[in-house]
Amino acid sequence: MIEIANRLKDVKEYYFSIILREVRALISEGKPIINLGIGSPDLDPPKEVVNALKKADVHGYQNYQGIPQIRQSIAHFYDINYTVVLNPENEILPLMGSKEGILHISMAYLNEGDEVLIPNPGYPTYASVTKLVQAKPVFYDLDAGNNWQPDFKALKSLNLSKVKIMWVNYPHMPTGATPTNDLFKKLIEFGKEHNILIVNDNPYSFILNNDPKSILAYKGAKDVAIELNSLSKTFNMSGWRVGMVLGNASYINNILKVKSNMDSGMYYGIQQGAIAALNLSENWLESNNKIYRERRKLVWEICDKLKCTYDTKSTGLFVWAKIPVGKTSELMTDELLYEYDVFVTPGTIFGSKGKGYIRFSLCIDELKIKEVLTRISKN
Ligand SMILES: Cc1ncc(COP(=O)(O)O)c(C=O)c1O
Repeated sequence: MIEIANRLKDVKEYYFSIILREVRALISEGKPIINLGIGSPDLDPPKEVVNALKKADVHGYQNYQGIPQIRQSIAHFYDINYTVVLNPENEILPLMGSKEGILHISMAYLNEGDEVLIPNPGYPTYASVTKLVQAKPVFYDLDAGNNWQPDFKALKSLNLSKVKIMWVNYPHMPTGATPTNDLFKKLIEFGKEHNILIVNDNPYSFILNNDPKSILAYKGAKDVAIELNSLSKTFNMSGWRVGMVLGNASYINNILKVKSNMDSGMYYGIQQGAIAALNLSENWLESNNKIYRERRKLVWEICDKLKCTYDTKSTGLFVWAKIPVGKTSELMTDELLYEYDVFVTPGTIFGSKGKGYIRFSLCIDELKIKEVLTRISKN
């Protein structure tokens, strides 16, 4: 056998890759599994998006930075939705999903042994990518009592001399906590004071949220912060793989150095679809959110039945539920999976601070959510 690279020794297969194999096995045994686990939007993208893709008839390699119209559309979208002015020439880089951006940014800025601040709980990819590039994750705790915001006093007490990147993700997944003006200002100040690149991963700001914010809207942000965004959740286009990284031209240029050596541009038709999405009116987003709002009410009912508590002010594609005392996240998810054929995500996959929580996805039809309610009400 050939020995694997050191960079892989500490990296495990992605949780969902493993558990969905198990879920598929249960389905093939005939179990009527209802999947409330994964955040892949089940609703259709806007019809304008699909029509734009159908009309596209260009099949060659594309510009590494995306065609000018996609960058102009992203600039327009950021201007009208976040009041952020970006130069489409050099402050915007379209990506094939924001997930790949996490690797590109890490490859552009991290050397072996560098340290990276990562939210706990948080999206698992920040830590696995950090390990892939042989840097060291340093987890910072988020607590419900502090509305899942970083504790700056605790952060400043750390030895930050080796830290180069801090991942933040507001609105936050999995908790649905939203950012305040003060939070973004403090993050920029912190980044400047300690020479740390602040990366806000922002794919959820249009889901069940009336106040979308970008870190780039705050004074001095472009000196020390960049932002990832994505069409996956906003426009139900997760399989299309369209994301973006935004910020100061020098950061974007360094990320482009990595990306242009890894892929050969995004398919033209996908770019046309993305342009159509970015130029849609707000009405589309509202019609999407109306569906999620109804689903969320039902998921809250499920939580009530299970004696779980939740924050009605949280946003995003998930309900983050605190489980009753005496149960663990794994016990509860196993019970739901094996007794009721319902798959939900244990909070612990997002880090130790997810202990005592489970996560419900809203990416599932109302009828199926009602079926879950019926199943758990029978006992
Ligand atoms: C916090 C967070 N960041 C990034 C992503 C990746 O999104 P994309 O589809 O744009 O790669 C996800 C997807 O689940 C996410 O939850």
